[in-house]
Amino acid sequence: MKDKVCTFIIFGVTGHLARTKLLPALYRLDAAGMLLPQTRIAGLGRRDWDNDTWRRQVTEHLQAALDDVDQNLLNRFLQRLTFIPLELGESRHYRAMAEILAAPEYPPNLVFYLAIPPDQYSLAARHLAEVNLNVEDSGWRRLVVEKPFGYDLESARLLDHALHRDFREEQIYRIDHYLGKETVQNIFVFRFANLLLEPLWNRNYIDHVQITHAETSGVEGRAGYYDSAGALRDMLQSHLLQMLALTAMEPPPQLDAESLRDEKVKVLKSIRPIPASAVHAHAFRAQYARGTIAGREVPGYLEEEGVPPASTTETYAALKLYLDNWRWRGVPFYLRTGKRLAKNRSLIAIRFKHPPQQLFRQTHISRLEPNWLLLGIQPEQCIRAEVYVQESGTEMRARKIQLDASTCGTPANRLAAYETLLLDVIDGDHALFLRSDEVLWAWQVVDPILKVWSVERDYIHTYPAGSWGPEEVNRLFDREDHHWRHGLEIHECQEAEQ
Ligand code: BG6
Repeated sequence: MKDKVCTFIIFGVTGHLARTKLLPALYRLDAAGMLLPQTRIAGLGRRDWDNDTWRRQVTEHLQAALDDVDQNLLNRFLQRLTFIPLELGESRHYRAMAEILAAPEYPPNLVFYLAIPPDQYSLAARHLAEVNLNVEDSGWRRLVVEKPFGYDLESARLLDHALHRDFREEQIYRIDHYLGKETVQNIFVFRFANLLLEPLWNRNYIDHVQITHAETSGVEGRAGYYDSAGALRDMLQSHLLQMLALTAMEPPPQLDAESLRDEKVKVLKSIRPIPASAVHAHAFRAQYARGTIAGREVPGYLEEEGVPPASTTETYAALKLYLDNWRWRGVPFYLRTGKRLAKNRSLIAIRFKHPPQQLFRQTHISRLEPNWLLLGIQPEQCIRAEVYVQESGTEMRARKIQLDASTCGTPANRLAAYETLLLDVIDGDHALFLRSDEVLWAWQVVDPILKVWSVERDYIHTYPAGSWGPEEVNRLFDREDHHWRHGLEIHECQEAEQ
Protein backbone atom coordinates (compact mmCIF):
# COMPACT_ATOMS: atom_id res chain seq x y z
CA MET A 1 0.00 0.00 0.00
CA LYS A 2 2.79 2.39 0.96
CA ASP A 3 4.03 2.09 -2.59
CA LYS A 4 0.78 3.64 -3.84
CA VAL A 5 0.87 6.73 -1.68
CA CYS A 6 2.14 9.51 -3.89
CA THR A 7 2.30 13.17 -4.68
CA PHE A 8 0.68 13.93 -8.01
CA ILE A 9 2.36 16.95 -9.63
CA ILE A 10 0.55 18.48 -12.59
CA PHE A 11 2.44 20.80 -14.93
CA GLY A 12 0.18 23.23 -16.80
CA VAL A 13 -2.55 22.98 -14.21
CA THR A 14 -4.44 26.01 -15.50
CA GLY A 15 -4.66 24.51 -19.00
CA HIS A 16 -7.53 22.79 -20.79
CA LEU A 17 -6.45 19.20 -20.15
CA ALA A 18 -5.93 19.69 -16.42
CA ARG A 19 -9.17 21.61 -15.98
CA THR A 20 -11.44 19.39 -18.04
CA LYS A 21 -9.95 15.92 -17.59
CA LEU A 22 -7.26 15.49 -14.96
CA LEU A 23 -8.70 17.34 -11.97
CA PRO A 24 -12.23 15.97 -12.50
CA ALA A 25 -10.79 12.45 -12.86
CA LEU A 26 -8.74 12.84 -9.67
CA TYR A 27 -11.79 14.17 -7.84
CA ARG A 28 -13.86 11.20 -9.00
CA LEU A 29 -11.17 8.76 -7.88
CA ASP A 30 -11.06 10.47 -4.51
CA ALA A 31 -14.85 10.45 -4.21
CA ALA A 32 -14.84 6.71 -4.97
CA GLY A 33 -12.32 6.16 -2.17
CA MET A 34 -9.57 5.18 -4.61
CA LEU A 35 -6.97 7.73 -3.54
CA LEU A 36 -5.18 6.89 -0.34
CA PRO A 37 -5.69 9.48 2.42
CA GLN A 38 -2.07 10.70 2.31
CA THR A 39 -2.15 11.39 -1.47
CA ARG A 40 -1.32 15.01 -2.31
CA ILE A 41 -1.84 16.93 -5.54
CA ALA A 42 0.45 19.81 -6.48
CA GLY A 43 -0.52 22.10 -9.36
CA LEU A 44 2.20 23.96 -11.24
CA GLY A 45 1.42 27.05 -13.24
CA ARG A 46 2.71 30.48 -14.14
CA ARG A 47 0.11 32.39 -12.10
CA ASP A 48 1.06 34.00 -8.85
CA TRP A 49 -1.63 32.15 -6.90
CA ASP A 50 -1.81 30.90 -3.34
CA ASN A 51 -3.50 27.65 -2.36
CA ASP A 52 -6.84 29.29 -1.60
CA THR A 53 -7.03 30.96 -5.01
CA TRP A 54 -6.27 27.70 -6.76
CA ARG A 55 -8.75 25.79 -4.65
CA ARG A 56 -11.46 28.30 -5.61
CA GLN A 57 -10.57 27.83 -9.26
CA VAL A 58 -10.65 24.04 -8.94
CA THR A 59 -14.07 24.23 -7.29
CA GLU A 60 -15.36 26.17 -10.32
CA HIS A 61 -13.79 23.74 -12.83
CA LEU A 62 -15.21 20.71 -11.06
CA GLN A 63 -18.66 22.21 -10.84
CA ALA A 64 -18.50 22.99 -14.57
CA ALA A 65 -17.21 19.54 -15.54
CA LEU A 66 -19.30 17.32 -13.24
CA ASP A 67 -22.92 17.42 -12.15
CA ASP A 68 -22.53 15.35 -9.00
CA VAL A 69 -20.01 17.28 -6.90
CA ASP A 70 -20.62 16.57 -3.22
CA GLN A 71 -19.63 19.39 -0.87
CA ASN A 72 -18.07 17.14 1.81
CA LEU A 73 -16.09 15.13 -0.71
CA LEU A 74 -15.07 18.34 -2.45
CA ASN A 75 -13.75 19.79 0.81
CA ARG A 76 -11.71 16.66 1.41
CA PHE A 77 -10.35 16.81 -2.15
CA LEU A 78 -9.43 20.50 -1.84
CA GLN A 79 -7.36 19.77 1.26
CA ARG A 80 -5.06 17.64 -0.89
CA LEU A 81 -4.20 20.54 -3.20
CA THR A 82 -1.16 22.83 -3.19
CA PHE A 83 -0.35 25.41 -5.84
CA ILE A 84 3.32 25.94 -6.75
CA PRO A 85 4.16 28.82 -9.14
CA LEU A 86 6.52 27.65 -11.87
CA GLU A 87 7.85 29.00 -15.16
CA LEU A 88 8.83 26.02 -17.29
CA GLY A 89 12.24 27.40 -18.22
CA GLU A 90 13.25 28.76 -14.76
CA SER A 91 15.75 26.54 -12.93
CA ARG A 92 15.21 28.34 -9.63
CA HIS A 93 11.50 27.48 -9.69
CA TYR A 94 12.37 23.77 -9.91
CA ARG A 95 14.75 24.16 -6.97
CA ALA A 96 11.99 25.81 -4.98
CA MET A 97 9.58 23.02 -5.94
CA ALA A 98 12.09 20.34 -4.90
CA GLU A 99 12.39 22.01 -1.49
CA ILE A 100 8.62 22.15 -1.06
CA LEU A 101 8.23 18.50 -2.06
CA ALA A 102 10.90 17.43 0.42
CA ALA A 103 8.59 18.37 3.33
CA PRO A 104 7.20 15.33 5.20
CA GLU A 105 3.59 16.09 4.26
CA TYR A 106 4.37 15.22 0.61
CA PRO A 107 4.70 11.47 -0.02
CA PRO A 108 8.09 10.86 -1.68
CA ASN A 109 6.68 8.81 -4.58
CA LEU A 110 6.22 11.42 -7.30
CA VAL A 111 4.13 11.47 -10.48
CA PHE A 112 5.01 14.32 -12.85
CA TYR A 113 2.15 14.81 -15.28
CA LEU A 114 3.18 17.06 -18.18
CA ALA A 115 -0.11 18.66 -19.24
CA ILE A 116 1.85 21.19 -21.31
CA PRO A 117 2.54 21.58 -25.05
CA PRO A 118 4.59 18.62 -26.34
CA ASP A 119 7.44 20.86 -27.48
CA GLN A 120 8.02 21.71 -23.80
CA TYR A 121 8.30 18.09 -22.56
CA SER A 122 12.05 17.80 -22.86
CA LEU A 123 12.58 21.20 -21.23
CA ALA A 124 10.55 20.18 -18.17
CA ALA A 125 12.23 16.74 -18.00
CA ARG A 126 15.70 18.33 -18.15
CA HIS A 127 14.92 20.79 -15.37
CA LEU A 128 13.46 18.06 -13.18
CA ALA A 129 16.66 16.08 -13.62
CA GLU A 130 18.80 19.11 -12.76
CA VAL A 131 17.28 19.10 -9.27
CA ASN A 132 17.44 15.27 -9.07
CA LEU A 133 13.70 14.85 -9.17
CA ASN A 134 14.23 12.00 -11.64
CA VAL A 135 16.33 10.01 -9.15
CA GLU A 136 14.50 7.19 -7.40
CA ASP A 137 16.27 7.38 -4.06
CA SER A 138 13.55 8.05 -1.53
CA GLY A 139 10.64 6.83 -3.67
CA TRP A 140 9.65 6.18 -7.26
CA ARG A 141 9.49 8.93 -9.92
CA ARG A 142 7.13 8.65 -12.89
CA LEU A 143 6.82 10.99 -15.86
CA VAL A 144 3.50 11.10 -17.71
CA VAL A 145 3.31 12.61 -21.19
CA GLU A 146 0.32 13.01 -23.50
CA LYS A 147 0.19 12.47 -27.23
CA PRO A 148 1.24 13.80 -29.72
CA PHE A 149 4.71 12.49 -28.90
CA GLY A 150 6.55 14.62 -31.44
CA TYR A 151 5.48 16.19 -34.69
CA ASP A 152 6.78 13.60 -37.12
CA LEU A 153 9.14 10.63 -37.07
CA GLU A 154 12.26 12.73 -36.72
CA SER A 155 10.99 14.93 -33.89
CA ALA A 156 9.56 11.87 -32.12
CA ARG A 157 13.04 10.30 -32.19
CA LEU A 158 14.56 13.48 -30.79
CA LEU A 159 11.94 13.69 -28.06
CA ASP A 160 12.53 10.08 -27.16
CA HIS A 161 16.22 10.68 -26.96
CA ALA A 162 15.74 13.77 -24.81
CA LEU A 163 13.41 12.03 -22.34
CA HIS A 164 15.63 8.97 -22.11
CA ARG A 165 18.59 11.14 -21.20
CA ASP A 166 17.01 11.75 -17.80
CA PHE A 167 14.29 9.13 -17.33
CA ARG A 168 14.40 5.37 -17.89
CA GLU A 169 11.74 3.87 -20.16
CA GLU A 170 10.12 2.23 -17.10
CA GLN A 171 9.63 5.68 -15.58
CA ILE A 172 7.82 7.06 -18.65
CA TYR A 173 4.05 6.71 -19.15
CA ARG A 174 2.86 7.81 -22.62
CA ILE A 175 -0.87 8.35 -22.47
CA ASP A 176 -3.22 7.62 -25.33
CA HIS A 177 -6.53 8.07 -23.54
CA TYR A 178 -8.31 5.79 -26.02
CA LEU A 179 -6.61 2.85 -24.34
CA GLY A 180 -8.40 3.81 -21.13
CA LYS A 181 -11.83 3.53 -22.76
CA GLU A 182 -13.79 0.47 -21.73
CA THR A 183 -14.82 -0.76 -25.16
CA VAL A 184 -11.31 -0.32 -26.48
CA GLN A 185 -10.12 -2.68 -23.74
CA ASN A 186 -13.11 -4.83 -24.50
CA ILE A 187 -11.78 -5.44 -28.03
CA PHE A 188 -9.02 -7.39 -26.37
CA VAL A 189 -11.25 -9.32 -23.98
CA PHE A 190 -13.88 -10.00 -26.61
CA ARG A 191 -11.31 -11.36 -29.03
CA PHE A 192 -9.22 -13.42 -26.65
CA ALA A 193 -11.67 -14.59 -23.99
CA ASN A 194 -13.89 -16.22 -26.66
CA LEU A 195 -12.90 -18.92 -29.07
CA LEU A 196 -15.93 -18.22 -31.23
CA LEU A 197 -14.38 -15.47 -33.29
CA GLU A 198 -10.84 -16.66 -33.72
CA PRO A 199 -11.43 -18.97 -36.73
CA LEU A 200 -13.18 -16.10 -38.55
CA TRP A 201 -10.76 -13.35 -37.58
CA ASN A 202 -8.61 -13.32 -40.69
CA ARG A 203 -8.34 -12.70 -44.42
CA ASN A 204 -10.42 -15.76 -45.27
CA TYR A 205 -13.61 -14.42 -43.72
CA ILE A 206 -13.17 -10.70 -43.19
CA ASP A 207 -13.68 -8.47 -46.21
CA HIS A 208 -12.54 -5.21 -44.68
CA VAL A 209 -12.35 -3.26 -41.43
CA GLN A 210 -13.42 0.34 -40.82
CA ILE A 211 -12.33 2.44 -37.88
CA THR A 212 -14.18 5.71 -37.48
CA HIS A 213 -13.85 8.56 -35.05
CA ALA A 214 -16.33 11.33 -35.75
CA GLU A 215 -17.04 14.34 -33.61
CA THR A 216 -19.39 17.28 -33.95
CA SER A 217 -17.12 19.71 -32.14
CA GLY A 218 -14.69 22.00 -33.90
CA VAL A 219 -11.34 23.21 -32.61
CA GLU A 220 -12.87 24.52 -29.35
CA GLY A 221 -10.36 27.27 -28.63
CA ARG A 222 -7.37 25.01 -29.38
CA ALA A 223 -6.57 26.49 -32.79
CA GLY A 224 -2.99 27.27 -31.76
CA TYR A 225 -2.24 23.59 -31.20
CA TYR A 226 -4.62 22.13 -33.75
CA ASP A 227 -3.54 24.17 -36.75
CA SER A 228 0.00 22.88 -36.45
CA ALA A 229 -1.20 19.33 -35.84
CA GLY A 230 -4.21 18.50 -38.02
CA ALA A 231 -6.39 15.40 -37.87
CA LEU A 232 -3.72 12.96 -39.03
CA ARG A 233 -1.39 13.76 -36.13
CA ASP A 234 -4.09 14.63 -33.59
CA MET A 235 -6.22 11.48 -33.90
CA LEU A 236 -5.10 9.07 -36.55
CA GLN A 237 -1.44 8.54 -35.72
CA SER A 238 -2.35 7.74 -32.12
CA HIS A 239 -5.91 6.77 -31.20
CA LEU A 240 -6.97 5.17 -34.49
CA LEU A 241 -3.75 3.23 -35.01
CA GLN A 242 -4.07 1.92 -31.45
CA MET A 243 -7.59 0.68 -32.21
CA LEU A 244 -6.26 -0.93 -35.36
CA ALA A 245 -3.45 -2.61 -33.43
CA LEU A 246 -5.87 -4.09 -30.88
CA THR A 247 -8.22 -5.28 -33.60
CA ALA A 248 -5.49 -6.91 -35.66
CA MET A 249 -2.99 -8.20 -33.08
CA GLU A 250 -2.17 -11.82 -32.32
CA PRO A 251 -2.97 -13.15 -28.84
CA PRO A 252 -0.06 -12.29 -26.55
CA PRO A 253 1.62 -15.19 -24.72
CA GLN A 254 0.89 -13.51 -21.38
CA LEU A 255 -1.06 -10.56 -20.09
CA ASP A 256 1.86 -8.47 -18.90
CA ALA A 257 2.52 -5.04 -20.37
CA GLU A 258 5.54 -6.06 -22.45
CA SER A 259 3.86 -9.08 -24.07
CA LEU A 260 0.87 -6.95 -24.96
CA ARG A 261 2.95 -4.12 -26.37
CA ASP A 262 5.18 -6.55 -28.30
CA GLU A 263 2.11 -7.78 -30.17
CA LYS A 264 0.88 -4.26 -30.93
CA VAL A 265 4.32 -3.34 -32.25
CA LYS A 266 4.24 -6.38 -34.56
CA VAL A 267 1.00 -5.09 -36.09
CA LEU A 268 2.39 -1.58 -36.60
CA LYS A 269 5.55 -3.05 -38.14
CA SER A 270 3.49 -5.09 -40.56
CA ILE A 271 1.60 -2.09 -41.97
CA ARG A 272 2.66 -1.81 -45.60
CA PRO A 273 4.69 1.40 -46.05
CA ILE A 274 3.05 4.01 -48.25
CA PRO A 275 5.55 5.41 -50.75
CA ALA A 276 5.25 9.11 -51.66
CA SER A 277 3.91 8.13 -55.09
CA ALA A 278 0.98 6.22 -53.49
CA VAL A 279 -0.05 8.80 -50.90
CA HIS A 280 -3.05 9.96 -52.95
CA ALA A 281 -4.30 6.43 -53.37
CA HIS A 282 -4.05 5.72 -49.63
CA ALA A 283 -4.73 9.00 -47.86
CA PHE A 284 -7.33 11.74 -48.06
CA ARG A 285 -7.68 15.03 -46.20
CA ALA A 286 -10.26 17.77 -46.02
CA GLN A 287 -11.29 20.79 -43.99
CA TYR A 288 -14.72 21.78 -42.67
CA ALA A 289 -16.52 24.73 -44.18
CA ARG A 290 -19.42 26.61 -42.61
CA GLY A 291 -22.46 24.44 -41.94
CA THR A 292 -25.14 23.43 -39.46
CA ILE A 293 -24.76 21.21 -36.40
CA ALA A 294 -27.84 20.35 -34.34
CA GLY A 295 -29.77 23.16 -36.02
CA ARG A 296 -27.12 25.75 -35.24
CA GLU A 297 -25.01 27.55 -37.85
CA VAL A 298 -21.32 27.05 -37.16
CA PRO A 299 -18.34 28.76 -38.78
CA GLY A 300 -15.93 27.06 -41.13
CA TYR A 301 -12.44 26.12 -39.94
CA LEU A 302 -10.87 29.16 -41.61
CA GLU A 303 -13.29 31.42 -39.72
CA GLU A 304 -12.38 29.97 -36.30
CA GLU A 305 -10.51 32.29 -33.98
CA GLY A 306 -6.76 31.80 -34.20
CA VAL A 307 -6.76 29.88 -37.50
CA PRO A 308 -4.60 31.50 -40.21
CA PRO A 309 -6.87 32.57 -43.11
CA ALA A 310 -5.04 30.47 -45.72
CA SER A 311 -4.53 27.38 -43.55
CA THR A 312 -4.67 24.02 -45.33
CA THR A 313 -4.59 22.04 -42.10
CA GLU A 314 -6.87 19.02 -42.38
CA THR A 315 -9.77 18.59 -39.96
CA TYR A 316 -10.70 15.30 -41.64
CA ALA A 317 -8.29 12.52 -42.54
CA ALA A 318 -8.83 9.06 -43.92
CA LEU A 319 -6.39 6.28 -44.71
CA LYS A 320 -6.39 2.90 -46.35
CA LEU A 321 -3.84 0.55 -44.86
CA TYR A 322 -2.81 -3.03 -45.55
CA LEU A 323 -1.12 -5.34 -43.11
CA ASP A 324 1.46 -7.57 -44.67
CA ASN A 325 1.15 -10.61 -42.46
CA TRP A 326 -0.46 -14.04 -42.73
CA ARG A 327 -3.64 -13.12 -40.93
CA TRP A 328 -4.50 -9.92 -42.76
CA ARG A 329 -2.79 -9.80 -46.12
CA GLY A 330 -5.08 -8.21 -48.71
CA VAL A 331 -7.71 -6.96 -46.22
CA PRO A 332 -8.12 -3.18 -46.38
CA PHE A 333 -8.32 -1.30 -43.09
CA TYR A 334 -10.07 2.02 -43.67
CA LEU A 335 -9.50 4.64 -40.97
CA ARG A 336 -11.19 8.03 -40.84
CA THR A 337 -11.55 10.84 -38.37
CA GLY A 338 -13.03 14.29 -38.54
CA LYS A 339 -14.17 17.31 -36.62
CA ARG A 340 -17.55 18.98 -37.19
CA LEU A 341 -19.04 15.79 -38.63
CA ALA A 342 -22.68 14.78 -38.43
CA LYS A 343 -22.45 12.83 -35.14
CA ASN A 344 -20.23 12.03 -32.21
CA ARG A 345 -19.29 8.47 -32.84
CA SER A 346 -16.32 6.12 -32.46
CA LEU A 347 -16.85 2.77 -34.07
CA ILE A 348 -14.96 -0.24 -35.33
CA ALA A 349 -16.99 -1.94 -38.05
CA ILE A 350 -15.88 -5.29 -39.41
CA ARG A 351 -17.50 -6.52 -42.59
CA PHE A 352 -17.41 -10.20 -43.35
CA LYS A 353 -17.31 -11.71 -46.83
CA HIS A 354 -20.33 -13.00 -48.73
CA PRO A 355 -21.13 -16.68 -48.24
CA PRO A 356 -19.41 -18.70 -50.98
CA GLN A 357 -22.67 -19.73 -52.66
CA GLN A 358 -25.82 -17.68 -53.35
CA LEU A 359 -28.11 -20.45 -52.05
CA PHE A 360 -31.15 -18.21 -51.73
CA ARG A 361 -31.06 -16.74 -55.23
CA GLN A 362 -34.44 -18.16 -56.29
CA THR A 363 -36.25 -17.10 -53.13
CA HIS A 364 -37.39 -13.80 -51.67
CA ILE A 365 -34.00 -13.61 -50.09
CA SER A 366 -32.43 -12.48 -53.31
CA ARG A 367 -29.65 -10.18 -52.21
CA LEU A 368 -28.14 -10.75 -48.82
CA GLU A 369 -25.79 -8.18 -47.41
CA PRO A 370 -22.67 -9.51 -45.76
CA ASN A 371 -22.57 -9.76 -41.97
CA TRP A 372 -21.15 -6.96 -39.89
CA LEU A 373 -19.63 -7.03 -36.45
CA LEU A 374 -19.77 -3.63 -34.78
CA LEU A 375 -17.77 -2.45 -31.82
CA GLY A 376 -19.29 0.81 -30.66
CA ILE A 377 -16.86 2.77 -28.52
CA GLN A 378 -18.84 5.96 -27.94
CA PRO A 379 -21.29 7.55 -27.33
CA GLU A 380 -22.80 4.20 -26.38
CA GLN A 381 -20.66 1.15 -25.71
CA CYS A 382 -21.85 -1.80 -27.68
CA ILE A 383 -20.81 -5.02 -29.33
CA ARG A 384 -23.29 -5.94 -32.01
CA ALA A 385 -23.44 -8.57 -34.75
CA GLU A 386 -25.76 -8.30 -37.73
CA VAL A 387 -27.06 -11.61 -38.99
CA TYR A 388 -30.00 -12.94 -41.02
CA VAL A 389 -32.88 -14.99 -39.68
CA GLN A 390 -36.01 -16.38 -41.27
CA GLU A 391 -39.11 -14.14 -41.04
CA SER A 392 -42.08 -15.97 -39.64
CA GLY A 393 -44.54 -16.94 -42.39
CA THR A 394 -44.89 -19.54 -45.10
CA GLU A 395 -42.42 -18.08 -47.57
CA MET A 396 -38.70 -18.12 -47.24
CA ARG A 397 -37.85 -14.55 -46.36
CA ALA A 398 -34.88 -13.29 -44.43
CA ARG A 399 -34.67 -10.42 -42.06
CA LYS A 400 -31.53 -8.75 -40.83
CA ILE A 401 -31.41 -8.67 -37.04
CA GLN A 402 -28.93 -7.45 -34.51
CA LEU A 403 -27.41 -9.54 -31.76
CA ASP A 404 -26.32 -7.24 -28.98
CA ALA A 405 -24.02 -7.83 -26.08
CA SER A 406 -25.89 -7.08 -22.87
CA THR A 407 -23.68 -4.06 -22.29
CA CYS A 408 -25.17 -2.26 -25.32
CA GLY A 409 -26.73 1.07 -24.65
CA THR A 410 -24.51 1.88 -21.67
CA PRO A 411 -23.37 5.44 -22.23
CA ALA A 412 -19.61 5.69 -22.41
CA ASN A 413 -18.18 7.52 -19.45
CA ARG A 414 -15.92 10.17 -20.93
CA LEU A 415 -13.90 10.61 -17.75
CA ALA A 416 -13.49 6.97 -16.92
CA ALA A 417 -10.61 6.64 -19.38
CA TYR A 418 -8.54 9.12 -17.41
CA GLU A 419 -9.55 7.60 -14.09
CA THR A 420 -8.34 4.20 -15.25
CA LEU A 421 -5.09 5.54 -16.62
CA LEU A 422 -4.26 7.70 -13.59
CA LEU A 423 -4.75 4.70 -11.31
CA ASP A 424 -2.51 2.62 -13.55
CA VAL A 425 0.25 5.23 -13.25
CA ILE A 426 -0.05 5.05 -9.46
CA ASP A 427 -0.02 1.23 -9.66
CA GLY A 428 3.01 1.25 -11.98
CA ASP A 429 1.17 -0.72 -14.66
CA HIS A 430 2.38 0.08 -18.20
CA ALA A 431 -0.05 -2.13 -20.12
CA LEU A 432 -2.28 0.74 -21.31
CA PHE A 433 0.59 3.11 -22.09
CA LEU A 434 2.62 3.32 -25.25
CA ARG A 435 6.16 2.08 -25.40
CA SER A 436 8.75 4.15 -27.21
CA ASP A 437 9.16 1.75 -30.17
CA GLU A 438 5.37 1.61 -30.57
CA VAL A 439 5.20 5.38 -30.95
CA LEU A 440 8.03 5.42 -33.49
CA TRP A 441 6.41 2.67 -35.59
CA ALA A 442 3.14 4.61 -35.59
CA TRP A 443 4.99 7.70 -36.86
CA GLN A 444 6.64 5.55 -39.50
CA VAL A 445 3.16 4.79 -40.89
CA VAL A 446 2.03 8.40 -41.27
CA ASP A 447 5.34 10.11 -41.92
CA PRO A 448 5.34 9.73 -45.74
CA ILE A 449 1.82 11.20 -45.84
CA LEU A 450 2.79 14.14 -43.65
CA LYS A 451 5.73 14.84 -45.93
CA VAL A 452 3.62 14.91 -49.09
CA TRP A 453 0.85 16.95 -47.48
CA SER A 454 3.33 19.46 -46.08
CA VAL A 455 4.47 20.44 -49.57
CA GLU A 456 1.04 20.29 -51.22
CA ARG A 457 -0.28 23.37 -49.51
CA ASP A 458 -2.26 25.06 -52.28
CA TYR A 459 -5.56 23.13 -52.17
CA ILE A 460 -7.64 21.12 -49.73
CA HIS A 461 -11.11 19.57 -50.18
CA THR A 462 -13.84 20.99 -47.96
CA TYR A 463 -17.03 19.56 -46.44
CA PRO A 464 -19.93 21.38 -44.83
CA ALA A 465 -19.92 21.20 -41.03
CA GLY A 466 -22.56 18.70 -39.96
CA SER A 467 -22.00 16.34 -42.91
CA TRP A 468 -20.17 13.00 -43.01
CA GLY A 469 -17.24 14.50 -44.92
CA PRO A 470 -16.59 14.88 -48.62
CA GLU A 471 -17.71 12.29 -51.18
CA GLU A 472 -14.25 12.31 -52.74
CA VAL A 473 -12.94 10.24 -49.84
CA ASN A 474 -14.64 7.25 -51.42
CA ARG A 475 -11.80 7.04 -53.89
CA LEU A 476 -9.91 5.15 -51.18
CA PHE A 477 -12.27 2.18 -51.42
CA ASP A 478 -10.95 -0.91 -53.11
CA ARG A 479 -14.30 -2.07 -54.36
CA GLU A 480 -17.61 -0.57 -55.42
CA ASP A 481 -19.52 -2.30 -52.66
CA HIS A 482 -17.40 -0.71 -49.96
CA HIS A 483 -19.17 2.14 -48.19
CA TRP A 484 -18.62 3.90 -44.91
CA ARG A 485 -20.60 2.52 -42.06
CA HIS A 486 -21.66 5.54 -40.02
CA GLY A 487 -23.36 3.95 -37.06
CA LEU A 488 -24.65 0.97 -35.16
CA GLU A 489 -28.16 0.90 -36.59
CA ILE A 490 -29.04 -1.19 -39.61
CA HIS A 491 -30.48 1.78 -41.45
CA GLU A 492 -27.26 3.72 -40.92
CA CYS A 493 -25.59 1.09 -43.00
CA GLN A 494 -28.34 0.81 -45.59
CA GLU A 495 -28.50 4.55 -46.06
CA ALA A 496 -24.82 4.55 -46.74
CA GLU A 497 -25.15 1.68 -49.15
CA GLN A 498 -27.83 3.27 -51.31
C1 BG6 B 1 -7.87 14.19 -28.31
C2 BG6 B 1 -7.72 15.12 -29.46
O1 BG6 B 1 -6.73 13.38 -28.16
O2 BG6 B 1 -9.00 13.37 -28.51
C3 BG6 B 1 -8.98 15.96 -29.66
O3 BG6 B 1 -6.59 15.98 -29.25
C4 BG6 B 1 -10.18 15.06 -29.78
O4 BG6 B 1 -8.85 16.79 -30.80
C5 BG6 B 1 -10.22 14.08 -28.62
O5 BG6 B 1 -11.34 15.87 -29.77
C6 BG6 B 1 -11.33 13.06 -28.80
O6 BG6 B 1 -11.40 12.30 -27.65
P1 BG6 B 1 -12.79 11.68 -27.19
O7 BG6 B 1 -12.45 10.88 -25.98
O8 BG6 B 1 -13.68 12.86 -26.91
O9 BG6 B 1 -13.25 10.87 -28.35
